Amino acid sequence: MSTLSARALATLLAGWRDAGVAYAALADRIRLLILDGRIPTGTRLPAERELAAQLGVSRTTVTAAYAELRATSHLHSTRGSGSVAQLPLRPPVSIEGGHPDLLDFSKATMPAIPQVAEAARVAAEQLPTVLGESGFDPYGLTELREAIADRYTLRGLPTTPDQVMVTIGAQHAIALIARTVMGRGDRALIEHPTYPHALDALRTAGARVLPVSVTTDEGWDALALEQAIQRSSPALGYLMPDNHNPTGRTMPDEQREWLLSLAARHGTTIVADETMAELGLDGQPSPPPMAVHGSAILVGSVGKTVWGGLRIGWIRADRTLIQRLVRSRASGDLGTPMLEQLIVAHLLRDFDAVLAQRRALLREGRDRLARLLHDRLPEWRVPHTGGGLTSWVNLGEPVSSQLAIAARNEGLVIAAGPRFGVDGAFERFIRIPFSYSAEETERAVDALAAAWAHVMRYPVPTPADDLAAVV
Ligand SMILES: Cc1ncc(COP(=O)(O)O)c(C=O)c1O
Repeated sequence: MSTLSARALATLLAGWRDAGVAYAALADRIRLLILDGRIPTGTRLPAERELAAQLGVSRTTVTAAYAELRATSHLHSTRGSGSVAQLPLRPPVSIEGGHPDLLDFSKATMPAIPQVAEAARVAAEQLPTVLGESGFDPYGLTELREAIADRYTLRGLPTTPDQVMVTIGAQHAIALIARTVMGRGDRALIEHPTYPHALDALRTAGARVLPVSVTTDEGWDALALEQAIQRSSPALGYLMPDNHNPTGRTMPDEQREWLLSLAARHGTTIVADETMAELGLDGQPSPPPMAVHGSAILVGSVGKTVWGGLRIGWIRADRTLIQRLVRSRASGDLGTPMLEQLIVAHLLRDFDAVLAQRRALLREGRDRLARLLHDRLPEWRVPHTGGGLTSWVNLGEPVSSQLAIAARNEGLVIAAGPRFGVDGAFERFIRIPFSYSAEETERAVDALAAAWAHVMRYPVPTPADDLAAVV
């Protein structure tokens, strides 16, 4: 079991003091750190006495905060092992009963496209053709691998089915690649901000991460990319070149070419997560797959385009690497479910129509969210988002964690900016999905406006104020 020192926890808690009651503010911040995965479940928290000394508060304050976290099932204490972080089985519902139905904006997802039901019916009819096989196929159904390969070829990257393996979603693909391509302690370049579960997968595989900035205005920081690769020769670079999650940026062609050639010279394997690749929202043509510009492993999924509930993703790489990945797959799972593969193979036949529907809904959602935020929260900076499912909004103040806590009290679950970064970065940002219905988006913006008013009424000292207090 890992233990968090009082000093490390105090760093994570920077600026925790709210104008409210101290123990409740402390409990709220620790709860958010656990909810956001920044204090992993199973981590032992520091002893009350040590944390109190580190934070300069009375021990009673910490005791009361820990008791509150125990009451909401975010901590459990056993004799001899102290107070250990955990997540309750279900998100806590407001005890006052004010918001029995929490709206969950922590995920950028959409309901299934209507065609899934019909595709499932057709797939069920086809099922007897595979029932005679074992069903344990780590490569994936030939029919689906052919359909995926054809789609790459159509998009400008000639591909054969033996360059494709089907996975249980893109997340599975990322974790499998990380544990196959990297050794423990290797460096992995990531974008900053990045997709949090990819970061989790890289860290689980033992990566030491090298963050490189991506912003809504400037895109990828070319100088930082160059320095990170030249100085550290990372074993792997995990990138989302198309409609990057959370910023929505797309990497220009020249930068792709330059980056892949630099990475190749330094032995860095680039993994391009193209989960959002075909979700451009301004009528722009989708860029060709990253591997058109040089050597890269590609990850894809129908999670955002068709439905996350199908759990179908894939990897496109050269044949030898696919074989290596298949060999290392068995330690985690033994293949992808058959019926879902048949469903996706069917849907890929008319994929352009699927994409057109998705893009139209997302475009509407993006414009609606921008309009609502402009009216209700004019002080926030809402960038134009060219694609994907999320808007990376600049709050102008480093209060994202507090805002997320206050939003929860208004019935909205949303991930604070630091969930997308390392070491507590992005307190000035929040990721707001625009993939939800008009009614849900309006409710979410109402909740954010109320939460913002609360946070602004009780401003928290910034690190600069703290410094001023000690000199
Ligand atoms: C960039 C990115 N990659 C991968 C995933 C996971 O995809 P899947 O549902 O196919 O596992 C997501 C889902 O949010 C994502 O945003």
